Amino acid sequence: MRLILPLPGNEVFAERIAKAGGFELGKLETRHFPDGESYVRLVSDIAGRPVDLVCSLARPDPGFLSLIFAADAARDLGAAEVTLVAPYLAYMRQDRRFTPGEAVTSRAFSRLISSSFDRLVTVDPHLHRYSALAALYDIPARTLHAAPLLADWIAAEVPHPLIIGPDEESEQWVQAVAAAVGAPHVVLRKIRHGDREVEIAFPDLTPWQDRRPVLLDDIASSGRTLIEAAHQLQRKGLQPPVSVVVHGIFAGEAFAELSLLSERVVSTDSVPHASNTITLAPLIAAALQTWEEDGPMRSRRRPGFSGSLG
Ligand code: R5P
Repeated sequence: MRLILPLPGNEVFAERIAKAGGFELGKLETRHFPDGESYVRLVSDIAGRPVDLVCSLARPDPGFLSLIFAADAARDLGAAEVTLVAPYLAYMRQDRRFTPGEAVTSRAFSRLISSSFDRLVTVDPHLHRYSALAALYDIPARTLHAAPLLADWIAAEVPHPLIIGPDEESEQWVQAVAAAVGAPHVVLRKIRHGDREVEIAFPDLTPWQDRRPVLLDDIASSGRTLIEAAHQLQRKGLQPPVSVVVHGIFAGEAFAELSLLSERVVSTDSVPHASNTITLAPLIAAALQTWEEDGPMRSRRRPGFSGSLG
């Protein structure tokens, strides 16, 4: 039976996955030595079993070494395979050198993960210049999509909605959600001037004045995209929006600011946050179950293996 092991802060989400998939929930201990170095101990029995380390990678730097040490320990203790379950995958945005001398952290991070794990499962990674995780990761990486869950939630909870995508890149995604909800959609034009400076242009919303705007984005990081869009909706006299994101990072005061401008702010549980409303656990458990049927991966891995299971 699969063993689900949560890294610190991921206990609730891991428990939901274990329950949804009928897997065993295990335990690992971490702490820091007085000199700041990391201590990791896998308490559960590992030998011969598929082990899934559950770790949302929002704000990844402080816990990253513990994650790598846990994966290494699992292999060392004879796990049949070691999977990283990262509902939010970090370091997807610096995917090229924008200024001479910059580290291309997407590639460096993917090499670190690929060398420590046999497989990766994640949800809606921020793919921009790379079309699929297989272009970055050397291990089988399964990409799951939250759109159907968001569509179900909007259809059940938001009467008479207008689905709004914040930028042209979101067009296809937003169109699919709107079609599933049976609602109209519009897409805004966004120009980013800096980490926290965005400019957003709206189309004419006059035909949709009576609808509840639903601002839909894959991620709220600084939150500036959604906050700027919500401000403009207010200036145009529309109803306050329902803001829905897959990954609610909400740096600094972003959540408080967006909440003031929104009817409601909703996220999936890919990043533990007060706005979590839609759970991804059954989606992830189903993906792990299909891997269970496939059998262990490690014995089949060869140096230089590259591929994606979806
Ligand atoms: C952009 O391509 C993404 O879809 C998001 O709109 C963006 O990453 C959100 O970032 P922030 O919350 O920092 O404006």
